[in-house]
Amino acid sequence: MRIEDLDFRVDSGVYAPAEDSFLLMDAFDLDHDDVFLDVGCGAGLLTLSAAGIARRVVATDISLKAARNTLRNLKRNGLEHRCSVMQSDLLGSIPPSALFSVIAFNPPYLPYDDTTTQMDHAFVGGVRGTEMAERFIQQAVRHLQRGGSVFVVSSSLANIKDLKNAMVNCGLHVEIVGSLSVFFEKIQVLKGIQQ
Ligand SMILES: C[S@@+](CC[C@H](N)C(=O)[O-])C[C@H]1O[C@@H](n2cnc3c(N)ncnc32)[C@H](O)[C@@H]1O
Repeated sequence: MRIEDLDFRVDSGVYAPAEDSFLLMDAFDLDHDDVFLDVGCGAGLLTLSAAGIARRVVATDISLKAARNTLRNLKRNGLEHRCSVMQSDLLGSIPPSALFSVIAFNPPYLPYDDTTTQMDHAFVGGVRGTEMAERFIQQAVRHLQRGGSVFVVSSSLANIKDLKNAMVNCGLHVEIVGSLSVFFEKIQVLKGIQQ
């Protein structure tokens, strides 16, 4: 299913899919056996693209507006049946026994600076930029099926090495599976495979 063919709307205060969203979406393929978790779902781009394919899709966002936006986009397109959407800080509301074959997060990944905006929840990942992604990895590995994969976006403006080390320390084999230069930064998708 192509996202251009869907009735996809972005509510005010919710991150509008951008280059990083599409880079992440193109970094993996799902099939009918996959159980997919979209962390930080925003308006639901990844959730909707997975909804017609995967066996089960779960989406979370810390922003209630974003979770509602994803659910409405699913319903607008009749794709809600195999999907659950919840407001959650990372994987905090996912039951401990729930396992996924693919977990993806396009996190807030920019380093903190002095300016604040109402969209910081979507952009700022901590002082180094990678703190949110590192916290995500520590939680995600506990919810990966054997041989499952985790996909996370990072930027050359953040400390990608710290994120990579955090993934390796969690027992993941790490590969760069997507890369794109946008203006003053290089965005990368890191894939962690459980060994
Ligand atoms: C860069 S946006 C990505 C949105 C969407 N996945 C996309 O690619 O278009 C980051 C998203 O992560 C959410 N987010 C930030 N902190 C979070 C947290 N602790 N737990 C869950 N979601 C979070 C934000 O609300 C925002 O929707």
